[in-house]
Amino acid sequence: MNNRKVLLWSIVVALGGFLFGFDTAVISGAEQAIQSYWALNSVEHGLTVSIALIGTVLGSLIGSIPCERIGRRNTLMVIAAIYLLSSLGTAFATNWYIFLLFRFLGGLGVGASSVTAPVYISEIAPAEKRGQLVALFQFNIVLGILLSYFSNYLIGQDGETAWRWMLGVQAFPSLLFLILLQVVPESPRWLILNQGKLEEATAVLKEIIPHGYEVEIENIKSSQQRNSGFADVNQLLTRKYRFPVFLAVVFAVFNQVSGINAIIYYAPRIFEMTGLGRSSSLLSTVGIGVVNFIFTLIALNFIDRIGRKTLMLIGSIGLISTLGLVAQAFYTHNFSGWAVTVYLLVYIAFFAFSQGAVIWVFMAEIFPNQVRAKGQTLGSFTHWIMAAIIAFSFPMLAEKLGGGNTFLFFCIMMVLQLLFVWKVMPETKGKSLEQIERSIIHA
Ligand code: GLC
Repeated sequence: MNNRKVLLWSIVVALGGFLFGFDTAVISGAEQAIQSYWALNSVEHGLTVSIALIGTVLGSLIGSIPCERIGRRNTLMVIAAIYLLSSLGTAFATNWYIFLLFRFLGGLGVGASSVTAPVYISEIAPAEKRGQLVALFQFNIVLGILLSYFSNYLIGQDGETAWRWMLGVQAFPSLLFLILLQVVPESPRWLILNQGKLEEATAVLKEIIPHGYEVEIENIKSSQQRNSGFADVNQLLTRKYRFPVFLAVVFAVFNQVSGINAIIYYAPRIFEMTGLGRSSSLLSTVGIGVVNFIFTLIALNFIDRIGRKTLMLIGSIGLISTLGLVAQAFYTHNFSGWAVTVYLLVYIAFFAFSQGAVIWVFMAEIFPNQVRAKGQTLGSFTHWIMAAIIAFSFPMLAEKLGGGNTFLFFCIMMVLQLLFVWKVMPETKGKSLEQIERSIIHA
């Protein structure tokens, strides 16, 4: 296998994840300045923050359409252009409505990239490295989140234009993404299955696996025969694809009912609930970003060796324990010192090591070639709808039910996840996409 090239292509495409992370987290540092700049009331303020998430849900829903019609690579180029437009449009917005429009556009990019980038990487990656290469996407998301915190911190809060810079700097990585995509070839699987372009696909596959590419082509062709034609959405919902559909939806729901985004989006607020001061809370939040980054990196080294399922088993046990401890601290009001901060940092470490690293990999590899983009859309859409529900309801839940009950709920969900992983989740490590297809799809 030609490691270097595949790695380069995967890194370039995973930049879509970097922008996803940056775009979603950057607003946390800018929202207050924007609120006072346009004198927004609380509803307008809420919309300023959540409009991107609305765009993301929609982007994940329609992302598979260009992915199938114009190809994975062209879709990524459109996404890069969208990110570029969105960052410039928000930075130079002359009124709040224009600002909203461009934030919404950026959200569309995030949603579409969560469909297209994992699909692309899974389709060019050799089986034994696929987990690691697709997980580069998650690695970039986490890096994007961290760098946006850092960039916001460097830009600072001074002056009327600081928030414009925070959003505007995203234009640089977006432009870089657009330029670098020029060296990336189209997915050979899309070329054969959707375009019938065997020669072009062979040329790409030869670069990926110089010895043995013929076998790969035969496998792709026989997958085409098994799943003749181009499946539409209704077909995705037939009995044949029932199992991967079930896996993707359940996996995405569990990803979010772990409470991850309640913590990513509301970390300072949670820390303040436990009695930490503002500056210690912000410090703890940076700690969350750093731990997330480090443990994602560690997971990258294990995902193809010990497998997705083992990561998920270890992770589930860690998440159950840490969420249980946080719930207990809330019930007993035992907030002495940094205990909750430590539990949450350990929680993030387990999340990054399991669900974080596995979700985008697993969803991109369990669907057959013909329906991969649609299947990925379904999983990604479920993930984003759940993320939106949790983001909107967490402050209310924490207030009405209390921190203890809310964290206990996440904890119980992770017990169910453990059962699901143990009894139902298939291991996909080291198998070719077509081998996975044969073991998961019922004729
Ligand atoms: C995963 C989750 C996403 C979360 C991120 C945090 O990508 O799917 O919702 O924000 O991890 O690291």
